[in-house]
Amino acid sequence: MINVALIGYGTVNSGFREIFEEKRAEIEEAVDDQIKIKKIVVKHPEKHEDIKNLLVDRIEDIIDDEEIDLVIEATGEVGPIEEDIKKLLEKKNLITSNKALVSKNFEEFEAIAKKYKRKFRFDAAVGGAVPTIENLYTIRTLNDVKRVSGIFNGSCNFVLSKMEEGIDFDTAVKEAQKLGFAELDPSNDIDGLDSMRKLRLAASILFNKPIKEENIDLEGIRKITNEDIEEAKANKQRYKLIAYGDDEGTYRVRPELVDIDSNFGKIKDNENIFQIETSNAKILTFIGPGAGKRETGFAILNDFLNIYRIR
Ligand SMILES: NC(=O)c1ccc[n+]([C@@H]2O[C@H](COP(=O)([O-])OP(=O)(O)OC[C@H]3O[C@@H](n4cnc5c(N)ncnc54)[C@H](OP(=O)(O)O)[C@@H]3O)[C@@H](O)[C@H]2O)c1
Repeated sequence: MINVALIGYGTVNSGFREIFEEKRAEIEEAVDDQIKIKKIVVKHPEKHEDIKNLLVDRIEDIIDDEEIDLVIEATGEVGPIEEDIKKLLEKKNLITSNKALVSKNFEEFEAIAKKYKRKFRFDAAVGGAVPTIENLYTIRTLNDVKRVSGIFNGSCNFVLSKMEEGIDFDTAVKEAQKLGFAELDPSNDIDGLDSMRKLRLAASILFNKPIKEENIDLEGIRKITNEDIEEAKANKQRYKLIAYGDDEGTYRVRPELVDIDSNFGKIKDNENIFQIETSNAKILTFIGPGAGKRETGFAILNDFLNIYRIR
């Protein structure tokens, strides 16, 4: 029996559970074992009548439960939770979608996982449904990596394409919030922090050294005007928020012009693209949805199978 605990039960972990219950037979066959969701911790238990029988009060209740083998964390929190997660990783395998948490603690989490021989997976935190992290580790082992570039943020795609329709920046951001693309405070997306965290993680893996948030030059999309966008359109170009890193030590996130017909120019809404230039595999491109309930639920289960699949 594989006993699993969840920390957080919002979009990501409820999406994970939905797919898990639908595909339970296939997943249990793939891992050749039964799987049980044993405990869940949330912030506001009163909101979660439907999972009342699984709720526990504190993360310690999970850490101290010797039967629990895997924890799936999807809260978006940093702060006090960081120490809990470090303690937890000494005893349990961990899958997380929490990019702020992993970006802040990546090297330390990796070191703890290595020391205590635990599995630590965070694919959902970087590419959403796009299977990135395990591939990045393989790519770096077998190649010299020259550069990585990509579009990692759906809210910026959405706002910039609304501006191409003539809508002004503030209205486009409000529309993105209404449709659930952007957070209530959209600055993580619009000011490029979300893309920066994903670049920090992808580049640290690909170039095999710690590339911290402060090593990345950052500019979001606030300064782009409707006039800039009209001018770009006249040249069959458009603006995208591009993350870029190379083996010479340049790391940046900034709006750049791309041709409308290029791979980057065609990325829209919640799609992400990763392009990696390597010594042996030439240029590898990964494209797919970077967010969404079932998309991110898929990513969590992809990590789950990477840990437990027997064939
Ligand atoms: N949504 C996506 O498409 C997506 C895609 C990729 C990555 N992510 C990342 O995944 C993480 C979770 O995203 P989400 O969209 O699932 O967020 P969400 O819907 O806001 O859910 C967050 C959950 O975490 C719980 N929580 C918050 N603080 C907690 C704490 N200190 N202890 C225990 N539980 C706590 C909340 O409890 P209550 O329900 O009781 O309030 C809630 O159930 C974030 O880091 C996000 O950036 C999300």
